[in-house]
Amino acid sequence: MSTPILVAVAWPYASGSRHVGHLAGAYLPADVFARYQRLAGNEVLMVSGSDVHGTPITVRADDEGVTPQDIVDRYHSEFVQNWEDLGISWDLYTTTGTENHTQVTQDMFLKQLEKGHIDKRVSQQFYDQESERFLPDRYVEGTCPHCGYGEARGDQCENCGRTLDATDLIDPRSKLSGATPVLRDTEHFHFRYSDFEEPLAEWLDSREGWRPHVLNFSKSWVEEGLHDRAITRDIQWGIDLPVDDLGPGKRIYVWYDAVIGYLSASKEWAKASGDEDAWRRWWENPDAQSYYFIGKDNVPFHAVFWPAQLMAYGGLNLPTNVPANQFATFKGGKASASRGVGLTVTQALQLFQPDALRFALAASFPEQSDTEISEEGIGRRINDELVATWGNLVNRVLSMVNKNCNGQVPAPGSRTAEDSLLLAAVDRAFEQAAAQFQAVELRAALRTAMSAAQAVNTYLTATEPWKLVKSDPDRGLAVLEVALCAVNGVRVLFAPFLPFSTEQLNEVFGPLEGWQRPQLIVGSPIEKPTPLFTKIEFADDL
Ligand code: MF3
Ligand code: ZN
Repeated sequence: MSTPILVAVAWPYASGSRHVGHLAGAYLPADVFARYQRLAGNEVLMVSGSDVHGTPITVRADDEGVTPQDIVDRYHSEFVQNWEDLGISWDLYTTTGTENHTQVTQDMFLKQLEKGHIDKRVSQQFYDQESERFLPDRYVEGTCPHCGYGEARGDQCENCGRTLDATDLIDPRSKLSGATPVLRDTEHFHFRYSDFEEPLAEWLDSREGWRPHVLNFSKSWVEEGLHDRAITRDIQWGIDLPVDDLGPGKRIYVWYDAVIGYLSASKEWAKASGDEDAWRRWWENPDAQSYYFIGKDNVPFHAVFWPAQLMAYGGLNLPTNVPANQFATFKGGKASASRGVGLTVTQALQLFQPDALRFALAASFPEQSDTEISEEGIGRRINDELVATWGNLVNRVLSMVNKNCNGQVPAPGSRTAEDSLLLAAVDRAFEQAAAQFQAVELRAALRTAMSAAQAVNTYLTATEPWKLVKSDPDRGLAVLEVALCAVNGVRVLFAPFLPFSTEQLNEVFGPLEGWQRPQLIVGSPIEKPTPLFTKIEFADDL
C-alpha cells in the first residue's frame, strides 16, 4: 500500500553559507529518507525553502551595508546550486518570500485570532536609546542565563542551543550601538501556547518511535509550563500583519511564519502540479505521515510550537515524527565560518565527489549524539569504506564479467548452497534496511548496505572466480553470474545514499524496480567499467 509521506526539511536562513554540519544534520538525512520512501513505493512530498525573514537576515544586511533582499538573493541562489550539486531531490524548494507564503501565513494568523488563540498585549522589550530603535531577537547580545556563554544572542544561545527571550540575557548590550538597552512598553500579538499545554503533553505522550533525546526534551519543555509568546516584532522586514491594530513598524515574527512554510510550500507545489487540492493528501488524510528533518536547536519550534499552531488552526496533521539530529562538530565545536572551522557545502564539493561526500557524512549522521567530523575523516571513510568495499567490488565484478563472459550477463548456472546463501543474505538486507529506514536509523541502513557488499567480497574471496574461469570455466561463469546478481541487489541498497553512481549503474543494470533486487537480463551487455569513485590522496600517502 502506498502511503503519502511528507518529508519536511528545516528552512535555512538565507543569511550565510550552509556547511557540512547542516548537511549531516538535516538535508542529507531527509534526502536519503525520501529516496528510500519513493523506492518503497510511497508517495513522497519533500519540501523546504530559504527562510528569508527575521533578524538573522537584517543583522547581516546591516553589517554589510546592503539590503536584506540582496542578502536573501545571494544565499538563496547559493543554496539552490548546492542542492543541485548534491542531488537533493526536492519536490519543491522555494522561499518564505513568496506571495503564496504570505497568504497562507496571514490565513493561519487570522483563523487563530478568530478562535481566540492569539491576543494583543503590552509587554516590555529592549530599546536602544542611542539608535532610537527597539531591539528584537539578534539585535541584543549578552550572557546566556543557562550556560554562561558571553556571546549569546537574543533569540538563542549558540553555545548550549537553548531558545531564549532577549530579556533573559544577563548583561544585555545592543548590537547596533553597544549601549545597554532599556526596557520599554510595546504592544504585540501573542500566541497563547498555554492553551495547548494539556493537548501537547497528551500528544507527546502518545508518540511512538521518537528519538529519546527529542521526546525527552520536548516533554520537559511542556512540563516546565508553556508561556505565551509574542509572534510579532518591532521590525521592518517580515510578513505584514493581516490586521492593522498595532500601527506601523510591526511585522510577523520569523519563527511564527517559517514553520508555516511546510504547509505553504505544499500548497505552492500543488498549484504548480495542476491540482490545487493535491496538498490535502499529505495534510488532511489521517493515514498520511510527516517527518520533520531538523537539527536539535530547532526541536522546540517543531515538536512544541508548530504542533500548537496546527492544533489552534485545526484539521491538519500533526508531525508523525521529528527525527532531529544532534550536532556534527568540528574540532569539538560547532562549525563557524568566522572562526574558520568546518567546511561550507561549496568548499566540500570542491574536495569530494557528491556521492562520496554523501556517503562519508551518512556514516557519521549525528543521530544519537554529537559526532565529530573532519576533512581528513571524510577522506579516510571514502578510501577505506566506500572505495575499498563498494567501488572496488563493482569494478572487479564488472571487469571479470566483461572479460570472461563475452561482455554480457551470463546465464545462471546450477546454484550451490554457497551461492544461494549469498543471494539470500542480500535479499534479507532489504528487509533489515527497510525497518531501519522506517525507524529513521539511516546510519544503520547504510551499515546494512555495507555488510551486504562485504558479503559479496567474502564470497569472491572464498570462490576465487578469477582462478575458476581457467580451471573450471562453467563454475567460473556460474560464480560470476551469482556475484553479478548480488551486486545488482546491493546497488539498490545504496541507491538512497548514492544517487549519482546509482545513475551510472542504472546504465549497466537497468532502472531500479522498487525496494528489491531486480532480475538480471541474460545477454545484456556489460562493458568495461569506469570506476565509480576516486580515491582521495593524502599528503602523507604520496
Ligand atoms: N531558519 C531556521 C534555521 O536556519 C530554521 C527554520 S526551520 C522552519 O535555524 F521551521 F522554519 F522551517
Ligand atoms: Zn547557553
